[in-house]
Formats: sequence, C-alpha cells, structure tokens
Amino acid sequence: MSKILETKNVYKEFGQENKTVVLKGINMEVEEGEYVVIMGQSGSGKSTLLYNISGMDKTTSGEVIFDGEKISEFDDEKMSQLRLQKMGFIFQHSYLLKKMSLRDNVMLPAFKAKKYSKKEILEKGNSLMESLHIEGVADHAINQVSGGQVQRTAICRALINEPKILYGDEPTGALNASTTREVMDILNTINKKGTTIVLVTHDAKVAARADRIIYLQDGEIVSSLTLGKYEKQQEKNREEKTNQWLREQGF
Ligand SMILES: Nc1ncnc2c1ncn2[C@@H]1O[C@H](COP(=O)(O)OP(=O)(O)O)[C@@H](O)[C@H]1O
Ligand SMILES: [Mg+2]
Repeated sequence: MSKILETKNVYKEFGQENKTVVLKGINMEVEEGEYVVIMGQSGSGKSTLLYNISGMDKTTSGEVIFDGEKISEFDDEKMSQLRLQKMGFIFQHSYLLKKMSLRDNVMLPAFKAKKYSKKEILEKGNSLMESLHIEGVADHAINQVSGGQVQRTAICRALINEPKILYGDEPTGALNASTTREVMDILNTINKKGTTIVLVTHDAKVAARADRIIYLQDGEIVSSLTLGKYEKQQEKNREEKTNQWLREQGF
C-alpha cells in the first residue's frame, strides 16, 4: 500500500494578539484506498484539521504531503487547481446552486476542471446520478427535492472529476436516520471502488463504517481505532467496538 496523505507536525493558530492554537503538532498518514474518520468533542479542531489537510486552509507550520506533492507550499491558484482535479468535498449543508438543476450542479465542477470532454461529462454525470438514484429528478431545481436527494446530488458533484480522495465534514449531520444510512452505504461503495475517504463525524454509527478512526482532543490526536474493511466484519461488532472505544476516550 502507498501513502496518499501525510502530515508532519502541523500547527494551526488563529488570531494575532489573542492567539489560539487549534492544531498542536498533527502527524497523520492515510493509505491510498483507506477510509478514515476523525472524531472528537465539539471544538476539538476536527473541521480545522480537515480544512488544513485538504488545503482549503493554510497551516501555520508543518507539512502536508498529498499524492507525492508538498501541498502546504502551494499558492492559492495551484491549490484550487489541485482540489478541482484530485479532491472531492461534501459538507453538512450542500452549497449547491439553488437556481440550477441537479444535473447542472453535478456537472459544473467537471466543466471547470476541463479534465473530460463534454460528452464524457454528460455520460459520467448521468451515470453517477443513476447509481445514486436521482436521475428521475435530475432536471429539478435544488429547492424542489428532498434533503436526501440534495445530499446525494452533492456527493455526485464531489465525485464527477473522479477524485483520488473524498473529504467530508459532518455530511450526515443534517439528515434523518434512514437517509444517513443511505449516505453511509454510498460512501462504503465509493470506497470499495478505490476512492480514499477522510470524514469528520460525531455519529458513532457513521464512524463504525470506517477502516480507522482517529480521536482528536484539544488539537491533538490522542488515540486511534482500527476496524478494517467494512465488508470483513459485522456491523453490530463494529458498532460495539466503536462505542466502547469512544467511551474510553470520554466521548
Ligand atoms: N477561523 C477561525 N478563527 C478563529 N478561531 C477559529 C476559527 N476556526 C475555528 N476556530 C476555533 O478553533 C477551535 C476548533 O474549531 P473546529 O475545528 O471548528 O472544531 P470542531 O470541528 O471539532 O467542532 C474552536 O475553538 C474554534 O473557535
Ligand atoms: Mg466542525
């Protein structure tokens, strides 16, 4: 296996006079094809960590190496190009364009990335929407469909450029239990096909689907739990292990 992501002693501070140190020397590695979840109390620095390892935000010091490149040294332009080409993002709220159809929202990043021809983009977009069961509402506007359909649209959009890695910040945070399960299943399928996933969640059930869970406390990684591939172990077992480990962390 090869590493797709590595951080070396990453620090993140906010503010000038009243400095807050939010990330305090993060060293982590993610293997290609791995599914990693970041957990921790609210305010422990999970979102900050995700934004710093994905280049959405700039580290104060330390290195972030992604796919063989030291992205912590990239300028904004280079970083946004790399993000478009190789990374996908999903959030609690989708940031889709309200006046555009689901289909156009899905395809927009592909037209920006210029990685594929128009024909390929249409085919890819349609086939993604089919596999996530939203092809029937593809021409609807975002405000005409359900929350689950919106989140599935956001996932399609995140995947349209075939990213090497998919980042998520609480992507199921605004969904009900059955839609959460749907999204969890989709993420496992995507991961099984080879996409690396790094996800922040506070939901133990979501975390139990990952290969490995990292626990963040006050800006430091204090523990991790390896569960292995989802297909290899019963869900109930994984959830029990995860819950027990989380209790040990004081979650
Ligand atoms: N842009 C910012 N400016 C100042 N402080 C911030 C900023 N972003 C996050 N923080 C602070 O960093 C800490 C961790 O925040 P965050 O990463 O959002 O935590 P989590 O996602 O684990 O809830 C919090 O104390 C928060 O107030
Ligand atoms: Mg957060």
